[in-house]
Amino acid sequence: MSQYLPDLEVIAREAGTLLLDYLARSVTIEYKGEVDLVTEADRASEKLIVERLRARWPQHGIVAEEGTRSETDAEYRWYVDPLDGTTNFAHGYPVFCVSIALARSDGQLQVGVLYDPTRDELFAAERGQGAKLNGRPIHVSKTKRLAESILGTGFPSHKRHQNPNIFFYHQITLRSHGVRRAGSAALDLANVACGRYDGFWEFNLNPWDTAAGVLLVQEAGGNVTRFDGSPFRLDSREVLASNGLFHHELIREFEAIFAGRGLEELPSVVEYARTRK
Ligand code: IPD
Ligand code: CA
Ligand code: CA
Repeated sequence: MSQYLPDLEVIAREAGTLLLDYLARSVTIEYKGEVDLVTEADRASEKLIVERLRARWPQHGIVAEEGTRSETDAEYRWYVDPLDGTTNFAHGYPVFCVSIALARSDGQLQVGVLYDPTRDELFAAERGQGAKLNGRPIHVSKTKRLAESILGTGFPSHKRHQNPNIFFYHQITLRSHGVRRAGSAALDLANVACGRYDGFWEFNLNPWDTAAGVLLVQEAGGNVTRFDGSPFRLDSREVLASNGLFHHELIREFEAIFAGRGLEELPSVVEYARTRK
């Protein structure tokens, strides 16, 4: 039996239940940046998770989104996103989760848990042991071609104007069954792991967004790399995840978009406005 998962699952569920309690009331929203939100629920969830992790595994370091940094030179380190999907949460849109993962100091992911309290879905993965959803083994999808796939992506809440993802969104949308933008990168990765999405990509993510979800995808048989196909690392920031079967196709598409393909195809809004009835 896993030395981590039973306790970790309890902690993630506890934090998720706390988030639901906050969702039922109206929470105070603060701004970390122009549109980068944080709520009292993010902080309360982080406090709960950090207290529990410290009590259970005092020797491990912790890096959590809302500021906790402890023993960062420890051999093992927890990456905690106490509420992934804060913008959704703050608007009452019920797509968010708690994400917790453990990595060795060389970055090798050991265990990850992700809990979506709105659907009561607990995703869990341990290195070499596969991935599970509510206790049942999960596997990535079997879709073989980009043209038959559905994917997810996300857009950052800060420095939005510097982010080129809108061009990737446009191009991949034209070449697939569609691209969803749900607002929780961690859940997006979990959805690749259980086959609801065939792929996911995003620019500028942090290790607390990706750690648990990346291990879930890998343990569910999928592939996670950088956009050029080089190995994903926790500090990579860019993430390209898929079921592995059309990963090479995605890498080729990204190469072409980076080289400028598609920019000339963007529809002219002015032209559309002129011809609409
Ligand atoms: C955000 C979500 C979102 C992604 C952003 C993240 P947060 O995390 O994962 O889907 O597009 O890049 O920052 O701020 O809600 O924890
Ligand atoms: Ca996040
Ligand atoms: Ca967060």
